[in-house]
Amino acid sequence: MEIITSVTTMQRWSREVHRQGQTVAFVPTMGYLHEGHLALIRAAQTAGDKVVVSLFVNPTQFGPQEDFAHYPRDRARDEALCRDADVAACFIPATEEMYAPDHQIYMEEPAAARLLEGAHRPGHFRGVLTVVAKLFGAVQPDVAVFGEKDAQQLWLVEKLVADLNFPVRIMAHPTVREPDGLAMSSRNKYLQPAQRERATCLYRALQVAAQKVAAGETRAAVVLESMQPVLATVPEARIDYVALVDPGTFRPLEQEVSTPCRAVLAVRIGSTRLIDTMLLSAGNET
Ligand code: PAF
Repeated sequence: MEIITSVTTMQRWSREVHRQGQTVAFVPTMGYLHEGHLALIRAAQTAGDKVVVSLFVNPTQFGPQEDFAHYPRDRARDEALCRDADVAACFIPATEEMYAPDHQIYMEEPAAARLLEGAHRPGHFRGVLTVVAKLFGAVQPDVAVFGEKDAQQLWLVEKLVADLNFPVRIMAHPTVREPDGLAMSSRNKYLQPAQRERATCLYRALQVAAQKVAAGETRAAVVLESMQPVLATVPEARIDYVALVDPGTFRPLEQEVSTPCRAVLAVRIGSTRLIDTMLLSAGNET
């Protein structure tokens, strides 16, 4: 497995793969890999000839009060996991490689990026869209795999690619869950054992919403209210948002829901902020 730290070497590597008539499948990550990332890597292996994984904790997507400095990092373990997973190249740029001192151009967020996650993390998607564009420029992938857990991010990356004509196919991968339903996330590591148990409230609340919609409920308020008692069972849970959105536009649905619609929520358990999502369908939909 190649370890690549410079943008120009990454571009050269990718050009060589393409010159040989092969394709590059890309899994962008912030490292601290878990089974969810490994599932993205396996999906990438079905979609392209050579898989590149980036390990880069992107400073521009963290707010000043967020956990950038403390975000979990374990480069040696990440490299070993990538090697075991038959990754062709790991792209591990230093911060100064990605953001030179005179770096000045940033993506402008669309309105949909200022809702939900964006409303609670101002500037987050400006940083995400900027780094994804930069990573695409460095890795030059044919296909890139993103997890559905970060549903708003996935929607925005699809929009980025469509609106700015990036020649990259975006492949969405279903959320990978622990056996008890908790969505896998590098931030789960922050949870104390008792909090870890209670953190399943996000998944359980989504399941209740899914049952309501499957049974024919179309009033958004009723679906959203049905999730509250589940979240209320965890006294330390503080809800940032719970919403139903149109999967096509990511606009919140406040009245009648047409299906499928997407439920999204962000909840703090103690000081750990977790997000989750589920696509909700009426009973007769697949
Ligand atoms: O989802 C993530 O891990 C990050 O937001 C991403 C896409 C790697 C950009 O830093």
